[in-house]
Amino acid sequence: MSRTEDFYDRFPFPGPCSAEDAAALRDLANGIQMLLPAARLESARVADVGCGTGQRLINLAQRFPASHFVGIDPGPAAIEQARAAAQAAGVANIDWRVERLETFADSGARFDLVIASGLLHHLDDPKAGVADLARVLAPEGVLYAWLYHAIGEFDRLRQRELARMFCPDFGDVERMADVSDALALTLAADHYGPSSVHVADAERLSHAVIDAYFHPTVAAFRFGDMRGLLEACDLQWYCINCINTPGASYLLNTGDAAGVDCLFAPKMNARLKSDALRRSYASQRIEERLRTIELLFKPTGFTLLAGRHGALAGLTERVRRAACMLQEPA
Ligand SMILES: C[S@@+](CC[C@H](N)C(=O)[O-])C[C@H]1O[C@@H](n2cnc3c(N)ncnc32)[C@H](O)[C@@H]1O
Repeated sequence: MSRTEDFYDRFPFPGPCSAEDAAALRDLANGIQMLLPAARLESARVADVGCGTGQRLINLAQRFPASHFVGIDPGPAAIEQARAAAQAAGVANIDWRVERLETFADSGARFDLVIASGLLHHLDDPKAGVADLARVLAPEGVLYAWLYHAIGEFDRLRQRELARMFCPDFGDVERMADVSDALALTLAADHYGPSSVHVADAERLSHAVIDAYFHPTVAAFRFGDMRGLLEACDLQWYCINCINTPGASYLLNTGDAAGVDCLFAPKMNARLKSDALRRSYASQRIEERLRTIELLFKPTGFTLLAGRHGALAGLTERVRRAACMLQEPA
């Protein structure tokens, strides 16, 4: 068992699951609804790898009652809570399994949409994790991964390092609570955008705070790290779909697709306060634009999409135009 699995065995995430929590944690379902037309999702095979206590997947499954979902997580307690919450909410279209990504990847199963929300940055080897996720992706399937961003998370990760100087052992809950009080550690409900962290937790020390400040294994990424992250697998393109900042999330339109200006470009124009800067941005390549965006917006999290060439045809023009090629089509 990895240190991450040991950690989640004690502190299943996002935390004790109620129907209200599932209704409140809408970020994943919102993101996927904006990405795929409903008709495409209705017939798709969807796997959520590292689903935790399941709130996000339950919310998605409630919106698509005719689709079938698989939620896997190595934590028996997390899966038990997820299963009970789904049952209480009357959600019957999720197959919950206690399983690790590594064995799931060997199973031969293939999915049209593979979700990995908050998983990769807690693995000992995120590159191997992406390669395993790619193995369960159908030829035209899409990987939808949510990751911490190194710029917006700098201060939280600094605080985490400080907290762990005083309490390196997440087994000592009393000590974690004392350190958390002394350092006034909190995590705003909208730290990763609206509807991202809310779980009603009556404990003195919430799972959200434990996860944010006492986790043993955490990585965070710049957009420029994505090529290196993806190089060990056979995926052929990637796209940074969305960024999260405290209080607001933005759907990126780095390929200038028509009809989506209202979502992102006006805010870009507001931040680049001269025509010269706006012209310069307009002339940047997509990966340069991504660098400009991360430096301006300091995201705390982002959604990475990736797949093989065949997957792009089924996605919106916004994603197709913003895709960065890892391998050019033959
Ligand atoms: C931060 S939680 C994310 C939970 C959920 N996806 C969400 O976004 O609310 C990370 C989850 O990954 C799971 N996990 C850790 N190692 C794993 C592995 N090797 N294979 C699959 N899941 C793993 C943990 O048990 C934990 O529930």
